[in-house]
Amino acid sequence: MEELKPKLSSPTNPTLSATWLRFPNSPFADLNRQLSRPLAHTVVGGKEGGKSALCETIAFLGASQKNGGSIIDLYGARDNEGLGWLRSPFKDSVLLLKGEHTQVNCPTAPCKNIGEVTLDDLEDYRVIVSCARFYRSIREEWYSVGKFLDFLWTRESWTKLCWLVVREANSIISSRMMLGEDQAQAVKYFVKAMQEMRHSGLSIAVDTLRWMGAEINYRTISDYIYLKAPGIDGLPQQLDFLYSYFDPFQIMQMPAEQFIVLSRRGALGVGRFDCPYWHKNEHENLRKLFAIDLKHDKDETKDLTKDTGLHVNDNTHAGIIRDRFEKKTKKGKVLSMGAIAFSLGRSSKTIHDQICYHNDAVTGVGECPRCKRVNGKYAKQEV
Ligand SMILES: Nc1ncnc2c1ncn2[C@@H]1O[C@H](COP(=O)(O)OP(=O)(O)O)[C@@H](O)[C@H]1O
Ligand SMILES: [Mg+2]
Repeated sequence: MEELKPKLSSPTNPTLSATWLRFPNSPFADLNRQLSRPLAHTVVGGKEGGKSALCETIAFLGASQKNGGSIIDLYGARDNEGLGWLRSPFKDSVLLLKGEHTQVNCPTAPCKNIGEVTLDDLEDYRVIVSCARFYRSIREEWYSVGKFLDFLWTRESWTKLCWLVVREANSIISSRMMLGEDQAQAVKYFVKAMQEMRHSGLSIAVDTLRWMGAEINYRTISDYIYLKAPGIDGLPQQLDFLYSYFDPFQIMQMPAEQFIVLSRRGALGVGRFDCPYWHKNEHENLRKLFAIDLKHDKDETKDLTKDTGLHVNDNTHAGIIRDRFEKKTKKGKVLSMGAIAFSLGRSSKTIHDQICYHNDAVTGVGECPRCKRVNGKYAKQEV
């Protein structure tokens, strides 16, 4: 059995090993070598089957390779499981990410607004964690992390391989939809991003509960698929061939430390890994454990009808964009932001912010979700 050991010397660091039953001489069976390449690893399995723990182990072993850079941990569960990294071997080099309307005070790690992360941060820190509770709502998290993903793909050259840990693949689809894409566009984005990842020096370890569904698209472009205990549903029909290698009940009741692994090139193996010692235990409150203070600004956006000060509802937003397109001065010029502000009794900054938001959305995802919600005529046009 091939033992994969991280370069960091600690007897308790997790290891991962696999015995290859089919194509043992394929380059893909040399997992140790492959972990230094930008590849996509997908873990599929039932609830609490050890999916997240396996993703953490893969990313940790990958980041511990000679060319290993940071681990970027996104979409952790609401219990802040990503904070476990604060007691990992990388604990002295963790950057926490948060939403701009939340104040976080962590005595042991710096914290930054997710929109302000730089490409240098990706090289400077060993772990970058976005915690669900560091945003006012799941919608805000999905929106902010969606924009952050766009930023990650801007990395044109790289020396260190970054490891993206995505806990529940479907979150990426939800994030894209928060940016105004529909389901088909969101899936297309994810598939394209996964195909292009190697150019940006990104590897991904993603977990998913479902074998069927939208995930089918990126499953087919995964370089490795790790199967964990599937629960009573058993394996999907396409994987029936595995029953000629394994006993069905063994698969159904596979312990958390085991997995079956399939490579894109057909190598098939069975393996085991250790649960990382820093992985969150079920009853732990990691935020309290690390004495992290949290304060959310009042969530004004929950009141979508609010339309005073800096808070602009969808109708007013679409009206501002329409005025900018249609209204003209006596000399036939486009109305200035100041003039629109005056006519609406708002500040010029409010008008400026709305136009920037609109243009960002149109150039980023092809459509402004605020205009779209109220059937605004200019939802797809930049002003
Ligand atoms: N390699 C392992 N060895 C032993 N126990 C494990 C292992 N991996 C996970 N576990 C146990 O399973 C629990 C659930 O793991 P987790 O990765 O959070 O599940 P999932 O993400 O599939 O819901 C962990 O808290 C841990 O107790
Ligand atoms: Mg999980």
